[in-house]
Amino acid sequence: MTTTHTVHRAATAVAARATELSKVYGEGETQVVALDRVTVDFPQGEFTAIMGPSGSGKSTLMHCVAGLDSFSSGSVRIGDTELSTLKDRQLTQLRRDKIGFIFQAFNLLPTLTALENITLPMDIAGRKPDAAWLQRVIDMVGLSDRLKHRPTELSGGQQQRVAVARALASRPEIIFGDEPTGNLDSRSGAEVLGFLRNSVRELGQTVVMVTHDPVAASYADRVIFLADGAVVDQMINPTADGVLDRMKAFDAKGRTS
Ligand SMILES: Nc1ncnc2c1ncn2[C@@H]1O[C@H](COP(=O)(O)OP(=O)(O)OP(=O)(O)O)[C@@H](O)[C@H]1O
Ligand SMILES: [Mg+2]
Repeated sequence: MTTTHTVHRAATAVAARATELSKVYGEGETQVVALDRVTVDFPQGEFTAIMGPSGSGKSTLMHCVAGLDSFSSGSVRIGDTELSTLKDRQLTQLRRDKIGFIFQAFNLLPTLTALENITLPMDIAGRKPDAAWLQRVIDMVGLSDRLKHRPTELSGGQQQRVAVARALASRPEIIFGDEPTGNLDSRSGAEVLGFLRNSVRELGQTVVMVTHDPVAASYADRVIFLADGAVVDQMINPTADGVLDRMKAFDAKGRTS
């Protein structure tokens, strides 16, 4: 008998890492420190949720680590690549080749079919999708009989499943989601979260997801809590109740200060 699981755990590499990452908006009186020396690892093959009060810096952290936004100081690594060493064109290329995105608004192109939307990023990059992989992803999100439909002919949940498949299609190094279930009812949201979890468990994908929802966070392997631009806590193998209790502690602090 081999202990593959243990070996996998021990050998965990880092898909993305932020080190002493700071992001300051504006100057002088109007200055906002959105991120204050954040150091965090996103291990390969793990599902990480980022939580924290509104304005705590969740989206800023995600955007800086995903190369969508510049940062003021510190460093960000995707795989072995230091983002600050890249020119704009190289950064665009890295985003395209190594990162998958899922946003709250599904961001599908209305004139394209579901299948065309799924393969669009790879088409733009001039890469041919691996047919077997693509089929596996499409089967997993249950879209086989909807591939010729356009976004307007799909429910919100189905549209987000297209977005999930689009993010998975190129087997990116890491997938980032900013409240990917924010616009979905709880059942469709649970489906999308199940697909994300399966993509981590079964396909070895790395996922980082910003969410406000303790139930959504409970699908993750780990929750990182932000407050005022800093990482203040984390929870391994979170439960919805555990996360809810932690969030209540933030609320209580907010009320008394
Ligand atoms: N373009 C900007 N210019 C100035 N300040 C900004 C800008 N974007 C964000 N901020 C500020 O940075 C801080 C962090 O914002 P961020 O959007 O990361 O928060 P968040 O945790 O994602 O909040 P929410 O849960 O409401 O989405 C906030 O105080 C916000 O007002
Ligand atoms: Mg946000």
